[in-house]
Amino acid sequence: MKRMLSGIKPTGELTLGNYLGALKHFVNYQDTYEMFVFIANLHTITVYQDPKQLAKHLKDAATLYLASGLDPEKATVFLQSDVLEHTQLSFILSCNTYLGEMNRMTQYKDKVSQGETNLTVGFYSYPTLMAADILLYDADFVPVGNDQKQHVEITRDIAERFNNRYSKTFVVPEPLIPIAGARIMSLSDPTKKMSKSDADNKGVIYMLDSPAQIKKKIVAAKTDSLNKIQYDPEKQPGISNLIQIMAACQEVPIAHVVAAYEDANYGTFKKAVAEVVIDTLAPIQARYHEINQSDLMEKTLAAGKAKAQRIAAKKLVEVQKKIGIEIRE
Ligand code: TYM
Repeated sequence: MKRMLSGIKPTGELTLGNYLGALKHFVNYQDTYEMFVFIANLHTITVYQDPKQLAKHLKDAATLYLASGLDPEKATVFLQSDVLEHTQLSFILSCNTYLGEMNRMTQYKDKVSQGETNLTVGFYSYPTLMAADILLYDADFVPVGNDQKQHVEITRDIAERFNNRYSKTFVVPEPLIPIAGARIMSLSDPTKKMSKSDADNKGVIYMLDSPAQIKKKIVAAKTDSLNKIQYDPEKQPGISNLIQIMAACQEVPIAHVVAAYEDANYGTFKKAVAEVVIDTLAPIQARYHEINQSDLMEKTLAAGKAKAQRIAAKKLVEVQKKIGIEIRE
């Protein structure tokens, strides 16, 4: 069975973008792949987080993983900081990564171009931690939304460089980008990604939003004055985003949604999208509340930690021998 690994960085409440671009696919893939899914809690602190809020977001994210359908019998679900090998391998990989490569990372370049001057060293070097997350487990595939593709690509470069320098050690992973849902945009500014750290929460649907909140946000979504339901992200980014959301929720092609609503006006279409999103999230929310009353999340993380540690420890010893820092046989 091929191995797959992915993670989410809960710097806020998980969004519909996280669900449609990532989580939903983890659940679909868990029957076909040996699946590893973790909470990237170390990644969250590359930018300051209020400790109390952060702990709540991490707990909610772990619960939402399970509520979305990740099955601890099938998938290994764990907390990144429980496996210390991630940070150790990250340092080793950072010694095999060039400053020029980090300088080319889009997320870093974006922050710099926005005039951000208080960037941390952790933020700058976080792609090497992400590479460690992936390479420790010999993952063949990494399912991610579009915005994370560059990080998987640098992981491939680092793995190939290491394998060439020290002989074959790492599996070179492939990114898996979904066809629908790869880039869900903000409802209030459909030229921007829907993001959990967005200050304008009118544009963001959170997985735990109530039906009334969801409806309000979708009905108020920014559209255009063309009054034609067609998929054209350039000219009609708002409508195209809503089409994408519906297609991803229903797991149908975009053309199917366009054909079904061709003659509808925007008001009718928005109401229909809201209903589909509410129906998609309702069973997850119900399960979230149930899991919150049980110890399933804690038990899952304990079992996940044990399994992940075994695999990671073995890989790290192999790496340390290859580079010559392990002096015992
Ligand atoms: P993060 O937390 O930003 O996002 C988690 C996943 O959700 C996807 N995603 C979206 N997909 C579609 N539309 C959106 N608006 C949207 N917003 C987010 C992301 O593409 C991602 O798949 N660095 C990673 C976490 C990470 C990781 C890893 C992932 C750490 N180590 C190892 C894979 C493998 C991150 O910040 O994702």
